Amino acid sequence: MNHAMPPDLAALNTRFAIPGRLRFMDCGAGLPMADIHTPLATARVALQGAQVLAWRPDGVAPVLWLSGAAVFAPGKAVRGGIPVCWPWFGDRPGQGQHGFVRTRLWELRHTSLDVHGQVHLSLGLQDDVATRALWDHAFDLELRVTVGTTLTLQLTTRNTGTQALTLTEALHTYFSVGDIRQTTVHGLDGTRYLDKLQGFAPSQQHGPVHFTGETDRVYTPTTADCVIDDADQKRRITLAKTGSQATVVWNPWVDKEKTMADMAPGGYQRMVCVETVNAAPHVITVAPGAQHSLGTTFSVAV
Ligand code: BG6
Repeated sequence: MNHAMPPDLAALNTRFAIPGRLRFMDCGAGLPMADIHTPLATARVALQGAQVLAWRPDGVAPVLWLSGAAVFAPGKAVRGGIPVCWPWFGDRPGQGQHGFVRTRLWELRHTSLDVHGQVHLSLGLQDDVATRALWDHAFDLELRVTVGTTLTLQLTTRNTGTQALTLTEALHTYFSVGDIRQTTVHGLDGTRYLDKLQGFAPSQQHGPVHFTGETDRVYTPTTADCVIDDADQKRRITLAKTGSQATVVWNPWVDKEKTMADMAPGGYQRMVCVETVNAAPHVITVAPGAQHSLGTTFSVAV
């Protein structure tokens, strides 16, 4: 739950718009998002969840997938783009899946245009009475987004309290692909994984990941780059990462999709999640006064 009122669009534009490059608009239900257009790329970033909703380098088809049935409403997770999962990844009985920051309103801290034509945004979130009721810790969380011919996200956790923080987290990216059956994910050959569909039974990857049914795997430990070979659209998306010990690969396929109200029928065929993660057993500990960063950069070759 988040009881904060979204900031006024006019106030956001007065303070943070970049003429001809970045302005704020409503992405639905009064929720603001930054709408970015530069000669290098277009992108959209919602303040709720600090969620990147879209990124498209100039001359390239959209790289991120957004569900045709996505719901934009206060406190509701949006299916697509890059949800930030924090301070836990996966299910926590009684508290829901993937933490609480993806449905909270973040504050916009900074926008700028650099000499290379890239747009930088910084969004932040701190603990308050509502977050302490869910997770009783003091923190400052910041997401820095760099929009250009590549897209970079850096999520920094600062421990502003007096107790050590332990957490898991993800930059839960939904990529747009032409056809999941013609898509492969490279970079995980030989890596061990926990298969959520088999009660987290351990297994090992041999060769690239192919998709022939529901897939839900936590590859760990791995710090490797991955490449999504989107054969149907004749392009390769490279994901590099920092501060991450796990990569999650997920596609719900036909039956699971039917259980998800915010998936349009057949949507699973056009998406794959390859997520930059820290998940159990590699839990992150942040000492009082210390910080930890999780980062990812995407680039596209056509
Ligand atoms: C993935 C998990 O990261 O997120 C899946 O591995 C889960 O098990 C998926 O179904 C989507 O989660 P949610 O909470 O956004 O529906």
